[in-house]
Amino acid sequence: MSDTNRLQTIREEILHCQKCALAKGRNKAVPGEGPSSVDVMFIGEGPGFHENQQGKPFVGQAGAFLDELLAAADLKRGEVFITNVVKCRPPSNRDPMPEELTACEVYLDEQIQLLNPKVIVTLGRFSMAKFIENGRISQIHGKAHQIGNRLVVTMYHPAAALHQPALRPVLVEDFAKLRHLLGKEEPVPPKVEDLSLTVRPVKADEKPMPPEQLSLF
Ligand code: URA
Ligand code: SF4
Repeated sequence: MSDTNRLQTIREEILHCQKCALAKGRNKAVPGEGPSSVDVMFIGEGPGFHENQQGKPFVGQAGAFLDELLAAADLKRGEVFITNVVKCRPPSNRDPMPEELTACEVYLDEQIQLLNPKVIVTLGRFSMAKFIENGRISQIHGKAHQIGNRLVVTMYHPAAALHQPALRPVLVEDFAKLRHLLGKEEPVPPKVEDLSLTVRPVKADEKPMPPEQLSLF
């Protein structure tokens, strides 16, 4: 079976899964979304109210902020895979329980194996804990960890910034760092030849222009 077909099969298995207690309260399971070939995969915690309604990841308020963060990283939703550590909504958005995480892990592990992304971005502490033992997000947010043949970047959960507005610029800055990691170039600086059009040699009887003026170019 091709990787694309297998990803589709996992999706269907998740939609009908009864492996943990979260199956009982769900409206729609949320397998995850994205192309079958990606450089970057994002892993959140679990579906919330709107995700449970629509069967899609990050479509509520946290999702709206995630869209802004993706823009800061120069990424589009359509070019990344987004999923969660548990695929069904925990009641009242409570934390997933250890047995639910364990029951659901097979799906995430196979998604990672099939997608084989260069970079995994963890959103929040449950997906961070999958890769980094005893990590403290306040210390390792925005950091890249080489794990096997890929990088795992540990980020605050976007929803954290909805409760703590001070985290907003921190998340934006951390996401902007992904540009470098993904080899997206900074704007190209002007070539020396172009600059030479505006910088003429200083004549002998003339003081050089002050640096503030030069820097205008
Ligand atoms: N929060 C998550 O962790 N995942 C979602 O899909 C939505 C909100
Ligand atoms: Fe199955 Fe995961 Fe949903 Fe539990 S959370 S029922 S393991 S898909």
